[in-house]
Amino acid sequence: MNSNNNYADPYESYEELFDPLRTNRQARRKRRTKPNYKPKKTQEELIANTADIIGLEGGLQITYVPAKHEKMWLLRSLRPFYDQELISDVEALVKGGKEANVYRCAAHPATGQKWLAAKVYRPRMFRNLRNDQMYRRGRTTLTANGVPAKASDTRLMRALGKKTGFGQQVAHTSWLMHEYTALELLHGAGASVPKPFASGDNAILMSYIGDETGSAPTLNEIKLDEDEVWTLFQKVLRNIVLMLQYGRIHGDLSAYNILYWDRDVTLIDFPQIANSHVSKKTHVVGSAVNPDAEFILERDITRVCEYFSAQGVNCDPDAIFGDVWDRYVEDDTQQRLADASTWLEE
Ligand SMILES: Nc1ncnc2c1ncn2[C@@H]1O[C@H](COP(=O)(O)OP(=O)(O)O)[C@@H](O)[C@H]1O
Ligand SMILES: [Mg+2]
Repeated sequence: MNSNNNYADPYESYEELFDPLRTNRQARRKRRTKPNYKPKKTQEELIANTADIIGLEGGLQITYVPAKHEKMWLLRSLRPFYDQELISDVEALVKGGKEANVYRCAAHPATGQKWLAAKVYRPRMFRNLRNDQMYRRGRTTLTANGVPAKASDTRLMRALGKKTGFGQQVAHTSWLMHEYTALELLHGAGASVPKPFASGDNAILMSYIGDETGSAPTLNEIKLDEDEVWTLFQKVLRNIVLMLQYGRIHGDLSAYNILYWDRDVTLIDFPQIANSHVSKKTHVVGSAVNPDAEFILERDITRVCEYFSAQGVNCDPDAIFGDVWDRYVEDDTQQRLADASTWLEE
């Protein structure tokens, strides 16, 4: 069952960044009036030319032919994975989303995988960060190593506050590293998420769900068979609970961020992951609880229920939310406080 709709992408921001001729009117006019105009190149010539340029980018030969403005940031973002012998080719664009493009890469044999999915964040993020304020509350800023930035690093803190170019780069890296470290934590905990392989300045590499004919569809693209609906619903709920046991809430969970493959589900897209509470299992130094945690969790559960209700499951999002919040957030918090007071008494 696969009905991927790869949609066209305007790439307007890359055009600005990498093809000034298109945005600079004067330059465009000059180009138009050039007297020795030559007919357009044939498709084959263009492809050969692109392959040449890709070769010049340092020996990274890829099968996928990127659009002109996509080429630079794609190759720059994926080059380190190639150098680290994690990937050997970029085969296809899986999907171009608002914030990232995901590519199917041929995995290097040493990884033990046939393919890997590379999520390459858009350069637009540097200039126009998604309204992520709600999610950032209670989170630390993560550096490229995945460790929290030090509050004593005044240069970095000032840049973040002032939203300078450097500050935006730091915020961008942090956003991406929250996704990567979430995958590490949750995959290690046994959640149904892709296995993370590597992170770079502008991309993360993870296991690929799908095959050579296409990537796994997201739940919203398909209708589930009657005999699998209940099992898959339970599985999604189990993952929500598992995340809560680790003090985390997905934050953008819906049928759009759940992949379906081999009668199973995989949760994806974690940059906005939020802290539900200070859990017994995990506590990141410097991080706190997101004050909107209840709202964020309730919204995730409501969206999941919307999809599964439409597929025939009889579910009550309010009741589920109340139950899991009491059991996994309130009780865990009480327990942790009780444990702490025992230690104090000892
Ligand atoms: N590991 C993966 N394997 C296969 N396809 C993936 C994987 N990760 C993402 N995708 C595809 O790429 C799309 C965009 O990825 P996502 O992480 O949701 O980013 P966005 O922020 O752009 O929504 C998804 O809807 C899915 O179709
Ligand atoms: Mg998504």
